[in-house]
This record gives sequence, structure tokens and C-alpha cells, in this order.
Amino acid sequence: MKKYYLLTFGCQMNMRDSELIAGQLEALGYERTTDQSCADLILALTCCVRGSAEDRALGRISQLKPLKRDNPRLVIGVGGCMPQNPDSLKRLQEACPHVDFFFGTRNLSELPRLLEEGRRDDKAVVDVTPRDDECIEKITPVRQSAISAWVTISYGCNNYCSYCIVPYVRGPERSRKPEHVLEEVRRLASQGYKEVTFLGQNVNSYGKDLPGDWSFPRLLREANEIEGIERIRFVTSHPKDVSSELIEAMATLNKVCEHLHLPLQSGSDRILASMNRGYTMARYLEIVDELRLRVPGIALTTDIIVGFPGESEEDFAMTMDAVQRVRFDGIFTFIYSPRPGTKAASFPGQVPKEVKKDRLQTLVATQNRITLELNQALVGKDVEVLVEGPSDKDPSVLAGRTRTNKVVTFPGDRALFGSLAMVRIKKARLWSLKGELR
Ligand code: 5AD
Ligand code: SF4
Repeated sequence: MKKYYLLTFGCQMNMRDSELIAGQLEALGYERTTDQSCADLILALTCCVRGSAEDRALGRISQLKPLKRDNPRLVIGVGGCMPQNPDSLKRLQEACPHVDFFFGTRNLSELPRLLEEGRRDDKAVVDVTPRDDECIEKITPVRQSAISAWVTISYGCNNYCSYCIVPYVRGPERSRKPEHVLEEVRRLASQGYKEVTFLGQNVNSYGKDLPGDWSFPRLLREANEIEGIERIRFVTSHPKDVSSELIEAMATLNKVCEHLHLPLQSGSDRILASMNRGYTMARYLEIVDELRLRVPGIALTTDIIVGFPGESEEDFAMTMDAVQRVRFDGIFTFIYSPRPGTKAASFPGQVPKEVKKDRLQTLVATQNRITLELNQALVGKDVEVLVEGPSDKDPSVLAGRTRTNKVVTFPGDRALFGSLAMVRIKKARLWSLKGELR
């Protein structure tokens, strides 16, 4: 049997695409290996959202060169966001002559053909033509988990935040047909899955491009009816599209978890405008207040960019203030990275590297303190945990997540995998909680 090895960088979209690729390859008779040196086929899914993500992927793919030298029959393909971006594709082609084929974000179902051409042709094959194919619906994915599943609900993004390359590499927003989404959730339920996470660049605008009266809250309502599924999550939400109807859905639908990832990006209105985000800090705080009122105990997480062009000390102080006012459960922090082709890359007032790094450190230190405080407040409390498997760090204990998306580890029997357990929190750490079964 031929063996394939997958290398996945970047966001959940790429993780999900890897599951579809695995499904196609296994249908073609390939078997997965976790040892790249014995693979007949290596596929990498790349990310270009920040320069650092790109460098990491490029470095790792460059390192595959000796493998190809030792085994000329090895086929290497590179997909995801980098090939879809002309600048990044050029970098890849120059640094990685050992790659046989490149494919874009909208060419997944072309994989069998690309594999053949890549193997046959001397020159690297490139297919990054944006195609909208329904063939993707016919692929049976090989999923990472048997308990929690990702379900794509929309592709692409229409927002054009001035720093972001995503709309260019993933195309305009297209909602997946609701019947396909709901059918997938029903199938997952019948296979024993307990949790689904709806995926999209901006899930809140789901349905705007569909005929009929579709909206994201309606999709949540219909999914909530599906028997067997215990938890529904979703990422990512955009503050400008958070409606009272969404908050109402979160407040009333029993399966929709009490967690919202709501990227703020900056606490300064001036910077938010320059980022083209479409909301002010006051509006964001209004959403937070309504959420906390209607969804008691909700956990909020966010993304923050430091060092956006023109960000002054005062602007950064506003971000620090926002983080301390909202008291997020967790934040993902990013140093602004100019992406060629985006508007912000040519904005004046690019912030020096050292300043960006200092701001990041200040932000992370404050947030770590807040996260730890919020986690410590859970000590002694009982929480519902969906048991997902053994802990990565210590396989002798079980690991799962609370409805608020916090990782909990505790001693227990493997028979609990896939079930909901009540756990009393004994110890809080920054990234996880330790508990005991009730
Ligand atoms: N530089 C830094 N961070 C970025 N993000 C997107 N583009 C950039 C960029 N050019 C961050 C945003 C987004 C997250 C997925 O990545 O915070 O929410
Ligand atoms: Fe990028 Fe903004 Fe779209 Fe998110 S909403 S993918 S940050 S353009």
C-alpha cells in the first residue's frame, strides 16, 4: 500500500481541508503514515496570514529536499493559502524545486488529477484556478476525532480588513447550502459524534448569499434540533455582524455552548477604522454587555493585533484598557505583519519591530494574569466536560473541554470517552484546569 504524509499549517480551515484530502487519498488506496521518511506522497497545506506562518511552512517544505533526493519516486504537493497568493507561490517555487505540484484553496477535488500530472511531468504543475465545485460534497473525510467534528458552513470572506490577505486567497464569501450542512450534522450524529464546530471566516454573515430566508441563527436553531449532538460551537464571528438574534439563539438553544470567539483586533477607534473593521469600541462593549446579560457565564476570547500602521502609544493604551475592561478568558495575540497586496501594507507609520515586540509582551503579561484569575475562580466549581480522549501531555489522564471551551484534565476510565462528565475543578493553570470526577 502506498503511504501518504500530511503536513498542516494554519487555521481550522486547513485542518478541515486535510481531513478531506485524507479522505480522497484513502479512497485512492493510500494509507496514512506519521513518518515522513517512509512516505510515497507528502502533501503540505500552507498558511500565509502572517509572514511568520509563511516562513515556517517554507522552512519545513525546504527540508523535504533530501527525501526527494533519496527517493526520486516520492511525490510532493503543496496546497493551501500560499500557492493561492502569487508572491508566496513565487517564493515557494524558487525555494522548493523539489515540489511536484501546487494547488490552491479551491482545487481540492482536483487532487487525483494533480497527483497524476505531478508524478508524470518534469516541471511542477500549478493549479490555483478558483473553482466552485460541488464535488467537494461527495468526498468522505477522514476525521481526526470520533467525538468532535468540524463542519464548514462558509468559504471565503468579503470583509477586506485592510491588513488581511484572506479575502484574496480564499475568495469571496460563499455559504454552503443549508441542506448540505444539516445533512452532515445528522450523519455525524448517527455516527456517534457529540460535538460540531461550524467553521467559516465570518459565520455570522452565513446565508446572506443564499436564496430564501437563511441566517446563521436559523442554522443554529435547526442544528439544535438534531438528536445525538450535545454541543454546537462556531468560529469565527465578526463583531459587525453579531445581532440580537444571534445572542438570543445563544441564550435559548441548549446545545449552543457558552463561548464566543469575537476578534476585537484593537481597542482604538482610530485604528479600528483604519483596519476597516466596521465597529467602534463602544459598540463592541455593548455586544459584550448584552452577551453577559443574556448568556450567564459566557466565556469570551479574542484576537488582537499589535503594531498596526499608525498605532501610537495612546492607541496601544486603549487596547490595554479594552483587554482589562472586557477581561477575556483568552486572547490570541499577533504582531502586525504587512502582507503584500493588502491596503495596510502601504500605509504610512509602520511600527518598528522592537516596539511591536514590546507591546506584544506587555499585552501577553496582562492577559496571562487575567486568564489565570478567571481560571482560578473556577476552583471548587463543578463543570460539564465532554471527554475527548487521553490528555496529550499525560496519556494516563482524560482530557476534555467545558462548554466554555476550557481544557480540563482528570483521572478516569477510558470508557468515559465521548461522554459528558461532571468534574470538580481542583487546580487552575494558564492553559488548563485539573479536576476530579464528581
Ligand atoms: N498581521 C497580523 N495578524 C493578522 N491577522 C490577520 N492578518 C494579519 C496580519 N497581516 C490576525 C487577525 C485575525 C487572525 C486570524 O489573524 O487577528 O483575526
Ligand atoms: Fe481577514 Fe477580516 Fe475576513 Fe477575518 S474578517 S478573514 S480578518 S478580512
